[in-house]
Amino acid sequence: MGCFITFEGIEGCGKTTQINLLAIRLNELGYETVVTREPGGCPISDQIRSILLNGNNNAMEPLAELLLYAAARAQHVSEVISPALEADKIVLCDRFTDATLAYQGFARGLDKALIENLNQLASFSIRPHMTFLFDCPVEIGLSRAISPLDSQGVREDRFEKESLAFHQRVRDGYIGIAGQAPDRIIIIPADRQVQAVADDVFAAVMARIQEDR
Ligand code: TMP
Repeated sequence: MGCFITFEGIEGCGKTTQINLLAIRLNELGYETVVTREPGGCPISDQIRSILLNGNNNAMEPLAELLLYAAARAQHVSEVISPALEADKIVLCDRFTDATLAYQGFARGLDKALIENLNQLASFSIRPHMTFLFDCPVEIGLSRAISPLDSQGVREDRFEKESLAFHQRVRDGYIGIAGQAPDRIIIIPADRQVQAVADDVFAAVMARIQEDR
């Protein structure tokens, strides 16, 4: 069985950059990695992603949103994550079940017990071996994340349009989730030089891989 590592944080926390840097370092050492993301990671889930993020879909019901994330995850786990783990690869996944609890639970206010049940169902009970939570102030993350307005002056990403208070609830939610799972979730202060963050992530992953041997 391979190693399943997930990366979480608010918009603009730098996780995508960090995943790519980690994959390069692991590949240089000869480890086989699969870099993927949620929502998305395979054609069916990518189509669900475009519905979820489309800035015109303002009328989306929170429960519909939750179920779409779950649907995208079920497809992604069965098509990409499970086979890669069975092939003994290291899977680096940009967001996973903790994002659903932080965004749909803590920020949107949907029932957390329901989300935990749904997370378990949609992930076929696969849990990350380790999770990095990149933590930084919401103002800093958002200033890095906001994509340009489209030609009609409309934001394209539904989540980037949410209020500062929404993103603050996401950040606080993530910190609460990390407090409940200290053995799995490593909080990484992300408001630092890219290389310093990358070194911390790499050291933690190598320690974990060597521990498993
Ligand atoms: P990304 O910008 O990191 O690619 O993530 C896409 C957006 O989807 C981001 O705003 C967070 C949100 N999201 C949820 O609300 N719930 C989830 O379960 C996941 C995986 C992402």
